[in-house]
Amino acid sequence: MSHIHICVEHLNFSYEKKQPVLQDISFFAGEQESVGIIGANGVGKSTLLKLLVGLNLNFEGSIRVEDIPLEKRTLAKIRERVGYVFQDADSQLFMPNVYEDVAFAPRNYGLSEEEVERRTETALAAVHIAHLREKPIYKLSGGEKKMVSIATILSMTPDIILMDEPSVALDPKNRRNLIRLLNEFSHLKMIASHDLDFIWDTCQRTILMAEGKIIREGKTEEILRDGELLEAYGLELPLSLYEKR
Ligand SMILES: Nc1ncnc2c1ncn2[C@@H]1O[C@H](COP(=O)(O)OP(=O)(O)OP(=O)(O)O)[C@@H](O)[C@H]1O
Ligand SMILES: [Mg+2]
Repeated sequence: MSHIHICVEHLNFSYEKKQPVLQDISFFAGEQESVGIIGANGVGKSTLLKLLVGLNLNFEGSIRVEDIPLEKRTLAKIRERVGYVFQDADSQLFMPNVYEDVAFAPRNYGLSEEEVERRTETALAAVHIAHLREKPIYKLSGGEKKMVSIATILSMTPDIILMDEPSVALDPKNRRNLIRLLNEFSHLKMIASHDLDFIWDTCQRTILMAEGKIIREGKTEEILRDGELLEAYGLELPLSLYEKR
């Protein structure tokens, strides 16, 4: 498959009138790119990712996924290609147990039960939670919920991955496994996070946001090494860089 990119032009959005949350956002994220989205609390990172999967269509400007304009008519088609992990795992999980949640998307696409099972088992194994298969969602820990959320998108074998704070609540081993998983994913991925070490390890390019705008975008190495820039926008150097100084 080719040309699986995201193109955003002059995106403006507000939840409530007269309170702009995203202002004139434009960027192109290409086929095999890995793009980090960083910025202080409330700058609009989650809102941006939500708009990219059509969770709110009341925006101005244009969003195109693989040249398909994002609108009501194209929503199902786009969601089939784009896997999105919510910042809050409770918003993602809605089935009674782990297996049912991870099996939901492939089943929804009308795949055979055999294929649904294969994909579900593969996704559970990829995030090392096969042992949680039968567990009710409400009995999971915070980190376990996050891993299940990630498995729910892996089972749909997405062409684009969008993740909002994926490393939150993960222990060091699961965090490292997720970094490896993401680095093995060869298509486009966009990751919003305050974990700048995670961004450093997974994203070649980084977009810095403040007050609903893109302040700077460029190579992750350049942006995350720029202590003055980060500090000016309420962030700090990744810990790994502090240690090296
Ligand atoms: N459902 C909503 N209704 C009204 N305002 C909202 C809603 N969701 C978010 N906002 C506001 O939009 C702004 C951007 O929020 P958003 O969640 O996108 O920020 P963020 O950059 O992801 O922050 P964080 O780092 O805390 O996750 C904030 O001012 C927030 O209060
Ligand atoms: Mg957020």
